[in-house]
Amino acid sequence: MPANIVVGTQWGDEGKGKIIDILASRADVVVRSQGGNNAGHTVVNNGEVYKLHLIPSGILYPNTLCLIGAGVVLDPKDFIGELDSLEARGISTANLKVDPRAHIVMPWHITLDGLSEEFRGGSDIGTTKRGIGPTYMDKYERCGIRMYDLVHPEVLAEKIKSTGNLKNKIITEVYGGEAFDLDAVTEEYIAYGKRLAKYMDDVSVLTFEASKAGKNIMFEGAQATLLDIDFGTYPYVTSSHPLSAGVCVGTGVGPKVISNIIGVAKAYTTRVGKGPFPTELDDEIGDTIREKGGEFGTTTGRPRRTGWFDAVIVRHSVRVNGLDSLAINKLDTLSGLDTLKICTAYKMPDGSVIENFPPTLEDLAGCEPVYEEFEGFNEDISKCTSFDNLPEKCQSYIKRLEELVGCPVKMVGIGPDRSQILER
Ligand code: GDP
Ligand code: IMO
Ligand code: MG
Repeated sequence: MPANIVVGTQWGDEGKGKIIDILASRADVVVRSQGGNNAGHTVVNNGEVYKLHLIPSGILYPNTLCLIGAGVVLDPKDFIGELDSLEARGISTANLKVDPRAHIVMPWHITLDGLSEEFRGGSDIGTTKRGIGPTYMDKYERCGIRMYDLVHPEVLAEKIKSTGNLKNKIITEVYGGEAFDLDAVTEEYIAYGKRLAKYMDDVSVLTFEASKAGKNIMFEGAQATLLDIDFGTYPYVTSSHPLSAGVCVGTGVGPKVISNIIGVAKAYTTRVGKGPFPTELDDEIGDTIREKGGEFGTTTGRPRRTGWFDAVIVRHSVRVNGLDSLAINKLDTLSGLDTLKICTAYKMPDGSVIENFPPTLEDLAGCEPVYEEFEGFNEDISKCTSFDNLPEKCQSYIKRLEELVGCPVKMVGIGPDRSQILER
């Protein structure tokens, strides 16, 4: 039975939530393996909008097992808020499990995320300020607090005392911030542990057993390839591995479990937060795309930067993720523009032309996008029912795009709703 991975191929917000929701209708298990509540995945069903941050998008199907793997960092306060808001809307969370190895976002992680961004001044990363970087730092420093600790009060109290003291010293003496009352934090987190104990289970074992039983498994990527800590635009990245390969370590399964890898992209490009963006449109066309596409962050509400489709970055994603196919969302947003452009390569300052995304910001500096132009389309395509019924100009845009990135486009999104997808 298939085990699909869905990953973002640009800088996030490609509409992964929508694609996962559609594929989850055929899945028995949906697994999140990295990132945290820095993600914001939107699912729209008949006008009902769900914005999910930590909980897998499969939660909207009552019989789907939803798993949060060891590689995820979990903010218990936010997680409980998300559980409550789903339950208030009649969505059961009974089929949700969290791995005991998952690291917990502590309040000092959020504070330190904000303080270190402030300290960086103009060269800040533009993080979501959800404490993601500092939580992964402690994980790799080997002083993190995990889901298991959260539900074992005596272990939790001990760990809060030892790490909390050091964090308080850093916050007060390095940054001049305010110390946390560690007893109050302990009490607060013990209460979260009591509430969350019933969700704890070994996600590696559950996924392995589901795979052996021939169940259909979906791995839900968060963030995206260009935000990967190694293969993204470092240091303007997140602190996890959003790549397809990250799924195996983040869940605790071997690569042979995976049968299919789907990349999600927009028909143009967006980025929220700082960092390089070669095809960025700092003009009226960029504003039009932002307004028409509703390009404002799902998690932070920040306006997203907008630009033309960049085949260089998606080609990079096809390679580093080993993509089998692509889903291209938001083609409908491009309707009404006179001309469309796709970046096919970068021209380097010495006049040479490169087709592979450069490994460092220094290599990227001075690169100029080389564009191919297309005549735009004006039709409202949001009610189209098949790819073959799309206007000729839309079809040739998608066909050229798949040629340029070297990967077949099997799904095309023409609106936010579950139903607004054309499968090829
Ligand atoms: P994710 O983080 O990749 O899951 O994406 P987000 O949910 O953060 O952002 C994608 C936004 O685009 C959401 O508001 C979706 O409802 C919306 N969306 C997804 N696919 C389409 C599409 O094909 N057309 C339009 N117009 N909107 C879409
Ligand atoms: P989804 O899953 C878009 C960006 C932040 C910032 C950088 C580091 O919805 O696609 P962090 O808080 O992770 O330390 O911030 O990464 N970022 C995202 N951008 N979509 C996301 O998730 C993102 N998650 C993090 O804006 O530039
Ligand atoms: Mg998002």
